[in-house]
Order: sequence, then C-alpha cells, then structure tokens
Amino acid sequence: MSESSDLSGLSKIYEESGKVRISLEGKKFNKIRKYAEEHFEQFWAEQAKNLVWFKEWDKILDWRDPPFAKWFVGGKLNACVNCLDRHLTHDNNNIKNKAAIIWEGENGENRTFTYYQLYRSVNIFANALKNIGVMKDDRVTIYLPMVPELPIAMLSCARIGAIHNVVFSGFSSQALVNRINDSKSKIVITADGSYRRGKLLELKRTVDEAIADTPSVEHVVVLKRASNIVRTGSKDVWWHDIIENASQYCEPEVVDSSHPLYILYTSGTTGKPKGVVHDTGGYLCHLNATAKWVYNFRKDDIYFCTADIGWVTGHSYIVYAPLMHGVTEIMYDGTPDYPKPDRYWKIVEKHGATILHTTPTALRMYMKFGDAIPNSFDLSSLRLLGTVGEPINPDVWIWYFKTIGKENCPVIDTWWQTETGGIMISACTDIEESIPMKPGSATFPLPGIHMDIVDEKDGSSVASNRKGYLVIRKPWPGMLTTLWQNDEKYKDTYWKKYDNIYYTGDYALSDSDGYIWLLGRADDVLKIAGHRLGTMELESAFVSHKSIAEAAVTSMPDEKKGESIIAFVVLRTGFSKSDNLRKELIDYIRNVVGPIATPNEIYFVNKLPKTRSGKIMRRLLKSIANGATETGDVTTIEDGTSLEEVRQAYNEMHKNI
Ligand code: PRX
Repeated sequence: MSESSDLSGLSKIYEESGKVRISLEGKKFNKIRKYAEEHFEQFWAEQAKNLVWFKEWDKILDWRDPPFAKWFVGGKLNACVNCLDRHLTHDNNNIKNKAAIIWEGENGENRTFTYYQLYRSVNIFANALKNIGVMKDDRVTIYLPMVPELPIAMLSCARIGAIHNVVFSGFSSQALVNRINDSKSKIVITADGSYRRGKLLELKRTVDEAIADTPSVEHVVVLKRASNIVRTGSKDVWWHDIIENASQYCEPEVVDSSHPLYILYTSGTTGKPKGVVHDTGGYLCHLNATAKWVYNFRKDDIYFCTADIGWVTGHSYIVYAPLMHGVTEIMYDGTPDYPKPDRYWKIVEKHGATILHTTPTALRMYMKFGDAIPNSFDLSSLRLLGTVGEPINPDVWIWYFKTIGKENCPVIDTWWQTETGGIMISACTDIEESIPMKPGSATFPLPGIHMDIVDEKDGSSVASNRKGYLVIRKPWPGMLTTLWQNDEKYKDTYWKKYDNIYYTGDYALSDSDGYIWLLGRADDVLKIAGHRLGTMELESAFVSHKSIAEAAVTSMPDEKKGESIIAFVVLRTGFSKSDNLRKELIDYIRNVVGPIATPNEIYFVNKLPKTRSGKIMRRLLKSIANGATETGDVTTIEDGTSLEEVRQAYNEMHKNI
C-alpha cells in the first residue's frame, strides 16, 4: 500500500532525529508480550492481583461455553472500593487528600474534589439511592452533563451493586426512551439543564417527554445545575433533598467478578442500539493494566481526557481507570471551541495538564485554525499525547506531535471499542523500550491481546500489507459479557462470522514491520466526529417523518468530522422535493436522534438501489459519495436505473462545490 510505504519513510525521518521514540525503562516489551503468550491466563491473573479483592478467584478464565467468558470465577470485589476506598486504606502516597477531579465548566467555573471528598459524596449518594428503593441488580439510567455528579452517580451505583446505564446527554428523548425501556430502569438521574456554547439545554424537559413512555421508572432524581425552572412531577425528587439526611457511610456491596457493572448502549448494523454489558472483575483488571501500560501514570500527573462520559472512553478512561490509579484528572463540561477555538490549550495551561487524550476530530478543528493559537499558550507541562475513536490522518498526527507536543511527547493512538471495554491496540509508554512511531498507525496489540487480520471470505490470516477484517482470536478480560437480555444477538453479531473469533467490524492491515493500520468500518456503522451511529437507526428516524417513504443513509468524507451523514430519500405521494422540506428533515433528525446526527445533505430520489431480495445497497451509495467512478459489483442490483438516479442527484448537488 503506497500510503503505508510513504509513512514508513516518514517514520525514518523521525527515527533519525532521535526524537519520535517511545523510550522508557529496559527491554520490557518483547519480554512481557512473550510471557503473555506463553502463560496467557497466568499473565492476566497477575494483572488482576493489582485490584482490591474481598476474595480471590478460584479459576482465572472459564471459556467452556464460548462465546460466554467468565473471568476470575469465584472472585469477589466492588468497583467503587477499587476506585476510592483503596486510596483511604492503602494510602502510601497520600492519595486520600489529593485532587481526584478538577472540574471546569464552559463558563470557566471550577470545582475540585479530593479523593476523600469524592469518597464521601459517593457514600452519601449511594445511601440516598438506597433510601429511594434502589437495590442490587436494579438498573439506573443516568442522563447528566459532564458534571462531577455524573461519576458520583456511577460510582454510587457500583457501590450498591446497581447497574448503571449512562445515556449521552446529547441524545434526544426517543433515544432515551429506547434505552430506559430496554434496560427496564427503575430510576433516571438527570439535571435541570446544562450548557452548550452558552445555550441552555433542557435535559429535564427531555426526560419529562421520555417518562411518559417508560413504565419501569419509579423516580427521577434531578440535580440543580443550571438554576433552571423545571416542571416537577410526582416521580421527581431533587438530588439535594435526597442527600440531606442520607448517612455518611455506605457499606459496599460485595459482588461476584461476573456481576454486571454497567450497560452502555451503542449503535450497530440493526435499527436498535445494543446494550453492551461489562462485568466487574475482568473489566477493571483490563482497565487497570492497560492504563498503566499506555499512560505510565506518575504521581504528579494531571491527566486530561476530553471524552464525554456518555461514551465508553469516558466510562473507562475518565471514571474507572484513572481513579483506580489515584490520578488527578481534569473533567471539562464544554466544547473545544467555546468561547474561542483554544479551549483545550487554555485548560492545559491553566491546570498544567501532563497527559492530553483527545480525538482526531478535535485536532482537525484546531489544526484548521493554525499554529498561532496553540503557540500562544504554555503547553510545556505536557509529556504524553493520545488520540482515540477514529483513524487519525498522518498530517494531523504530525501536527499534534510538532505543534502541541513540541516534538517532546510521544503520540499514542489507541484503538478499541465499546465492546472491548478497554484499549486493545496502542503504543505502551510503560513497557516499550524504544519503538519508532509511524504517524497514523496505532502500532501493536497490547500484551495478552490476540488480534489478527483475516481474509474477508475464508477467515484465514492475511499476509502483511493486505487489507482484511480485524478480529480478536482469544477472549480478553475487558470484553463485553453479552448484550443486555439478548444472548443470541451477542453470538450472532460478534462471534458467528468466524466460529468463536470476535469480529470487530473494522478493516485493518499490518505492514511489513507488523504495525497495525486501522482502515475504517467494514459494516454499516458510521463514525461522525468520532461518535458511533448506525445507518439503520438513522433510516428509521427518517421514515418516521410523514413525508418519507424510504431512506438510505451513508456517509461521505468530511474534513472536520472524518465522516458526515448523507441520506437518499424517497418521498411519499403528495409530497414534493424542496429546499424547505430538506431543511425541515434536517431539523427533524436533529430533534429525533440528537444534534450529533444532523445530516449534512439530503438527496431526493424516486428509487433506491436495492438487491433483488430488497436490501438497500448502501455500499454503492457510499462509493458514489466517496467519489469513486467505479461502484464495484452491481450484478445483484434489481434496477440499474436507480443507481444512475442516485449518481445524478449526488452530482447535481455537488456540481457547484
Ligand atoms: O471503527 C473503530 C473506531 O471506533 C469504533 C468503536 O467505536 P466506539 O465503540 O464508539 O468506541 C470508541 C472509543 C474507543 C471502532 O470499531 N476506532 C476507535 N478507536 C480508533 C478507531 N479507528 C481508528 N483508530 C482508532 N484509534
């Protein structure tokens, strides 16, 4: 692949400069990897020993009934104890009174919680939840902005053995209804409002709309965040009221290693989001180990991960991993460009961040505004830069390395998924002696992780420099244990394509040096500004509009967002295409799904390209939107004129661009 050979050239230039090397203690990497291969289970058991257990496991891994893995069978622990109590009772480093969370709101306000204060707040809120009837195994939906009360609510659930289900606060009421009903949540936790770019977002109103259709909900806990006047219904209780008389200490629930810690809904290739379930012991073991390898946390680190806790990166690498490590972290509730496109740099300078973990989308945006803005800030506190969530273009990687890291900070590109629970492919600053980095490659699988790239047709491993499906050959501790109440779908979605091998849905290739290059999704999942959305979910939102008979959604390359949403729609009789209708549909999708799903473009057509069995051929739409002159195999198309029409509609719209 020419791209890859160009890049290995680039990596050489960097090697010669002697700077783009991840150079740390000793020749540990190969040794650790070899040991992990030879003693797979033992290796992970040694990592699990770094957690706090009430009772150690009897069996490391039970894989007798694949794909249902059980890690650390018989072990008993509590996730909240691992994040908080451990720093009070095993406090050799004075973590107890160290800042856990430095929070910043978009208008610049700050709040800081020490580990002890966080521990106290969690104990009180956990008791408050118990007082309103929450018990072990109950599901609690959390629909909060990025305020400290969000991790407090999650850790409180973990403390009492309740299962949290965080819903990204940018989702609409319909998305909330689906997630509450599928999980049959007893409680919803929300806020009276939140802010985005200075505008008030009416979160409570969204919950009010949802609650009419969610019979399982007994109470809505409302946090006062925006001093917004909200309607209070019979199920509503204020956060500040329920904590008032709650006692100060809550005995942690001792749970099995396999106890579900949380459900997190994510988009797939079907219309309905999937409830990914993570256990407690395996998941925490994976996070604890990977965070150490990848970030090599130091005592005085100020770690800034810009993800939203509504997505998995926030769950794993804002809440559980850094807190288990006793790190001080920055939590920011706002957008990277508000009030000006310098916010992350301002935060790094203000709080002296040492590690910044962000997304290629944010970096592309900043890069567009030029070097003068970041150059006007003191970014010298930084020692490590990370990216996650989507492929990073080599030019953006280099900009990040040079302009932000001043050629002193390794850039780590971390690949993983909601389903994998934690990082699977990344450079490891703790365990690698010295590997040259290649801008745009996530480098190697972590030790104890068995990734492979296989042929689409027969599942055999492909030769180097050949594109194939990225798969995982062995179970790993952070893996999802199932889809909520849907074992069959779990098996079908991930493990059926190749017998008991996990199918990631991504394309990848491994170059001649064994570096892995991620090449995007191989299925109908879109990555819009790093957020995961399913084409079928969006299509069902379209057809719920009165004017739409059929819709096909795909993406086109986007300079800022990586990909942007486009839709081809067929109108019902009685409706005709117009710019007004196009605008109305764009607003409609924003409202039904949420602002992240705002379509970039809508094309009106009379027919969609389908196979003879009636399946929409999104592959063809995508290749047109990607500017391909050849659309590939069209032998199964039902009516060739539909493809011509799609092409015309697309070209018509883009002729002046
Ligand atoms: O396509 C891959 C892409 O994001 C997908 C997983 O999305 P989600 O479950 O939302 O989790 C995102 C945060 C971990 C993957 O299947 N992806 C994630 N990280 C990378 C990536 N693509 C390229 N490079 C990455 N570093």
